Amino acid sequence: MINRYTVIGQPIAHSLSPVVHQLFGELTQRKVHYTRTEASPDTFEQIVLDWQKVGAKGCNVTSPFKELAVSVCERLAPNARQAGSVNTIQMHRDGTRVGHNTDGAGLVADIVTNKRRALKSQRILILGAGGAARGVIAPLLATGPALLHVANRTSSKADALASLFADHGPITAGGYDALQSQDAFDVIINATTLSLNGGMPALPDCIIKHQTLAYDMTYATQDTTFMSWSRSKGAVTSNGLGMLVEQAAESFLIWEGVRPKTRMAYPRLRELIG
Ligand code: ATR
Repeated sequence: MINRYTVIGQPIAHSLSPVVHQLFGELTQRKVHYTRTEASPDTFEQIVLDWQKVGAKGCNVTSPFKELAVSVCERLAPNARQAGSVNTIQMHRDGTRVGHNTDGAGLVADIVTNKRRALKSQRILILGAGGAARGVIAPLLATGPALLHVANRTSSKADALASLFADHGPITAGGYDALQSQDAFDVIINATTLSLNGGMPALPDCIIKHQTLAYDMTYATQDTTFMSWSRSKGAVTSNGLGMLVEQAAESFLIWEGVRPKTRMAYPRLRELIG
């Protein structure tokens, strides 16, 4: 029997998820069929219901529907409740749906396991306070950093996130200007949407030091402006490919009960996506 899955988003044509999941199917010897589905805010819910009716075991949800996806799930895993968004829907035979968010686990797995950068006692900076930032804060705080600082153009949104997650660990917030008074960070994560348009926030040099890990959650075949700037200051850089693969592996685990050995997937993926 073939298990059917899809990723729903808008736009969706360039999503790498089908390639990643087909590869996971091969690596784990599971028969999976994984497609892309374009939706609009008006059609999103019906599309999810239709997929379940035709026997799909689940779907991934990507931009801009992750928040909307919360409302189509009867139950939420703690990671989805904390993130306020769902990127993985598990569809049960009885017609119910459980929402999960594997983005944070994917990011942490990529940094800690693939990049071998322990986050415990480290100073972490997140740039941005939108859905992408919110989705990864609780899992980052769970690693025991010395500090997680959220900086955003609209500082009130960063403040709101710091209040929301105050019980999870040491978290502070502010605008980009206030970064002038910060010491350098060990890890800087760009969770703004600016990389998509070739931009980056105006950042002071003091936040970066030799060997800082500058991680852009955006995936692009070329370095983003944030990555180039960070490297010129001595940082080690990463794009979001590893996060994409690791969050997909967490979804696969939820649906298929086995976590693919992602290490084996990277060479093939790099070959396939050039
Ligand atoms: P996502 O769900 O991908 O996080 P989002 O919720 O729209 O998308 O959040 C976008 C993030 O990028 C926000 O942090 C946003 O800053 P504001 O909250 O101040 O809007 C940030 N961002 C987008 N365009 C920006 C720009 N031109 N300059 C600085 N930050 C920007």
